[in-house]
Amino acid sequence: DKLHQLLQALPKCEHHVHIEGTISPELFFRLASKNGITLPSDDPAFESPAALHARYQNFTSLDDFLHYYFVGFSALINASDFEALTYDYLALAYSQNVYHAEIFFDPQAHISRNVPYHTIIAGMNAAKARAAVDFPKLSIEFIPCLLRHLPVPSAHELLDELLASGHFFDGTLVGFGMSSTELGKHPSLYKSVYDSARAAGVSNFTAHYGEEGPSDYVKDALSLLNVSRIDHGRRSAEDADLVAQLAESATMLTLCPLSNVILKGVDRMQDIPIREFLDANVRFSINSDDPAYFGGYIQENYCAVQEAFGLTVDDWGKIARGAIAGSWCSSSRKEQLL
Ligand code: ADE
Ligand code: ZN
Repeated sequence: DKLHQLLQALPKCEHHVHIEGTISPELFFRLASKNGITLPSDDPAFESPAALHARYQNFTSLDDFLHYYFVGFSALINASDFEALTYDYLALAYSQNVYHAEIFFDPQAHISRNVPYHTIIAGMNAAKARAAVDFPKLSIEFIPCLLRHLPVPSAHELLDELLASGHFFDGTLVGFGMSSTELGKHPSLYKSVYDSARAAGVSNFTAHYGEEGPSDYVKDALSLLNVSRIDHGRRSAEDADLVAQLAESATMLTLCPLSNVILKGVDRMQDIPIREFLDANVRFSINSDDPAYFGGYIQENYCAVQEAFGLTVDDWGKIARGAIAGSWCSSSRKEQLL
């Protein structure tokens, strides 16, 4: 209907998409074959792209998804693989009128396979350079995430390598985040990593919390890690004081509605506290997370929210303006996006 057309035309900002979460089963099989990668033989899901796609309909939890997500990494070897993956995402996002994209990637899970950090960034930068020509209205930023299923010292090693690259200070990397499994991974575990990064001059911080984990993790991430954003943050709604704090501090939640439904964080889209966050003036954006796994890119997420909540044009204006204000780009770029 008319609102869906408006949502397609609306200039969008995407703040929560993992580039490795954009690898389709077809591309995974193609790259694995090209690179001579052996697929897991003990899981019938890897018999064909169709079987893998079917398996994605039956995720039971974040950790169940993460198993498949990290197998997907194994096909990514050369800079050209990262370039193709990134360029294809940017082309699709641009077709949905994404004008500003901040893209997560997980260096530790590549470096541990002997794919160097500079290979990843070379491929992603090559895609960004082509996008500057082909998608002139699109600004692009990259954000590395530390991985919580790995030991904390590995996160310190990652930070050291990223700092040594100089990429936080030359415009290559816009900030620092963390992702992967959540339950049992309290923010206090990572305080020393975030403190070191801040002391070294890194300026924008975020962290995945409140996806499966309790609202206390969100509260403690704000106080211990000093993040200016929370990725997901859905369960913040369970704590009224936290909701007020998020509104007061203009902390942006990067919500991922289809992801929450597919990973069984909620039973139904209607259970995501979109209305509560709007009414409490909590800033949030709507994002795709891992679109190749969850059955939709940003436009499908916007439409699913509209179907579930029947928002007004004014609601969408508020969401769109909040997403621009919460973006990690210059104030002059924000003016252009408005
Ligand atoms: N890595 C990729 N997608 C993720 C998610 N939804 N939660 C935590 N880590 C992730
Ligand atoms: Zn995520």
